[in-house]
Amino acid sequence: MTAPQIRLGVAGLGLAGRMVAGSLDLDNRVAIVAAADPQQNARREFAAGRGVVMYPDVDGLCRDPMVDAVWVASPTRFHRRHVELAAEGGKDIIVEKPMAPSVADCDAMIAAAAKAGVLLLAAGVRSLDPTFDAMREVVESGALGRLRHLSASAYTGWLRRDRSEADMDESLGGGVVFNQAPHQVDVLRCLAGGRAVRSVRARAAAWSDRTPATGYFRAELELEDDVDAVLAYDGHGYLRSAELVASGGSASLVLADAGLVVASGSRGAVRPAGDHLDLVSDDGHSRIPIRPGDATTEAVSQLMAARTVGGAAPRHSGDWGRGTLEVVAAIVESARAGLRVPLRT
Ligand SMILES: NC(=O)c1ccc[n+]([C@@H]2O[C@H](COP(=O)([O-])OP(=O)(O)OC[C@H]3O[C@@H](n4cnc5c(N)ncnc54)[C@H](O)[C@@H]3O)[C@@H](O)[C@H]2O)c1
Repeated sequence: MTAPQIRLGVAGLGLAGRMVAGSLDLDNRVAIVAAADPQQNARREFAAGRGVVMYPDVDGLCRDPMVDAVWVASPTRFHRRHVELAAEGGKDIIVEKPMAPSVADCDAMIAAAAKAGVLLLAAGVRSLDPTFDAMREVVESGALGRLRHLSASAYTGWLRRDRSEADMDESLGGGVVFNQAPHQVDVLRCLAGGRAVRSVRARAAAWSDRTPATGYFRAELELEDDVDAVLAYDGHGYLRSAELVASGGSASLVLADAGLVVASGSRGAVRPAGDHLDLVSDDGHSRIPIRPGDATTEAVSQLMAARTVGGAAPRHSGDWGRGTLEVVAAIVESARAGLRVPLRT
């Protein structure tokens, strides 16, 4: 067996930290050597069956010389502090979505990583899944002609999970828009080849008799080159996006959070269909296979490529994550004010 190339520490052992570890336990490029969580139960469960050093706080984890990189999967309100600690400790960093509760926090995180000379990746987003990379390649190949429109419609049970008050507080990066819009915004920005988003017009609503919390949002994004994008999200749990298109494995998770995603151009349209893409164009109908993998292993691949001497900067860099957060923050602002919000992202 070859030695792992990255010794990873996981900060925060809730749903996200456990999902990341579940994927990386099968990835022999990576060894999870340490983890941190203030809850003893979470530490005990995570340590079972793993030879991992456990810390009650992220500070200790970030000072551990055995750790090369830290995956920040703590609650969003702590992302900035934990990225700063990891940078001070000289660790490369992968941070979950949403990158932070505010663009100012993203700026501070990017500055901390730059000052320490470490890598910062903004991950945890569905756009890292091979499904959307395959779609991006189709768009970039020109098979759709000129890209005109992108859409993402998601149906999930996000509101049905028990969440703390802090996890629902938008000022702390909580609530359905901050948590779930990053998936759709990031996918749409990737498919649009990083074209700048010029403006955002959004709506968000709390309409359920079961809870006063916001469970729905929609947004129109105006992008460069006359491309427009629409995203809609219903987190009430009556329908699941994954059931709308045949899929399995990680594909169902991808489809649940990003929703049904379609890219339309002047000569055709493409969408995911389980283990392949359906491309229909003036040249006919084709099934395009999607390579195996998931968003977690793809983030590791980007990190490894960037760690090699002369390696390419990661596509999902801190700057990229900041751009997505800027659009998400504009969705929140537009929904509150009922106005179109101009952007320079
Ligand atoms: N990529 C994805 O698909 C995905 C899925 C879920 C959550 N997330 C993101 O991951 C982050 C965590 O969400 P979650 O659903 O796992 O939350 P969670 O509530 O399930 O777990 C959070 C964990 O962090 C721990 N924690 C709290 N304070 C901490 C601190 N100061 N230091 C270290 N750990 C601390 C808690 O004890 C808990 O174990 C959020 O930013 C969320 O948006 C991403």
